[in-house]
Amino acid sequence: MPTHTTAEIIPPVLPPSRSAANGTTASLPGEMHDLMNGHLREEGLPEAHLPALPISRVLKGQKALVTGANSGIGQAVALALAHAGADVVVNYVSRPEAAEAVVREATRCGVNAYAHRANVAREDEVQGMFQTMIREFGTIDILVNNAGLQKDAPIDRMSLADWQFVLDVNLTGQFLCSREAIREFKRRGVREDVSCAAGKIICMSSVHEVIPWAGHVNYAASKGGVMLMMKSIAQEVAPHRIRVNSVCPGAVRTPINMEAWGTPEAYRELMKLIPYKRIGEPNDIGRAAVWLASDDSDYIHGASIFVDGGMTLYPGFETGG
Ligand code: BGC
Repeated sequence: MPTHTTAEIIPPVLPPSRSAANGTTASLPGEMHDLMNGHLREEGLPEAHLPALPISRVLKGQKALVTGANSGIGQAVALALAHAGADVVVNYVSRPEAAEAVVREATRCGVNAYAHRANVAREDEVQGMFQTMIREFGTIDILVNNAGLQKDAPIDRMSLADWQFVLDVNLTGQFLCSREAIREFKRRGVREDVSCAAGKIICMSSVHEVIPWAGHVNYAASKGGVMLMMKSIAQEVAPHRIRVNSVCPGAVRTPINMEAWGTPEAYRELMKLIPYKRIGEPNDIGRAAVWLASDDSDYIHGASIFVDGGMTLYPGFETGG
């Protein structure tokens, strides 16, 4: 079974003509579009259309840090926040050139951005990253705990190292970054000119915080952990007007899960799990993150927002029970 780490992921950098230039971050390569709509035609279902509305500048003047932002969902979130007017720190652990490409794309939105290498599982590196951000940007308003990876294996073949590695990055990494962000949010309090909250944390979880996943026990355990970590932090820091929520993506077209969507057969199988009959795009998650970070969602707190085309709706029951 393939394993993926952030180091192995090739970033699908958005073509400028379809991103910053027209005010959206939507980008769907033709091949993927054909695969999706070919399948829908075969099944006699309506064609899939993606959101076309530009992202409005609801985060103007805010300072955001997105971990694991040099590829996949993290990249899309960093660019969506930039489109919404936030200055962005693009955290990465490998492939600096990919991080720099995201920085260049973000600055085309008229915001400040820079890349910072740090392993989120290392306390000293996380603390250094926050110190640099506070020096460069003055403070932090939005943390997106996105960095995550899979190292899949059947339970009886999973090494302790692979169990530990996934827990370290996916769960401990989110703890370390949340702790530093909350220290700064509490120190600083509300910046009324930019937001009515003292800070926002968005944890990137997964449908697998509730759906068990055979062959992926380390990953599912990490995301189940993220759920109760997020909710416990949310309960604790709410009186300080710090909002904490999760986005739980379903199957999103990124390199982490290419085997699930990369061929017509795989795509057909995948659609059995998705009532909305299209794969998620990274920008679907970007838009959800912008909304959760903005005052539009000020009363949303401690929530797991599933962005999954209905994957958590027990799709096996579509045709009976
Ligand atoms: C995983 C993907 C998977 C999706 C739905 C995500 O959290 O990272 O690999 O396709 O869940 O199963």
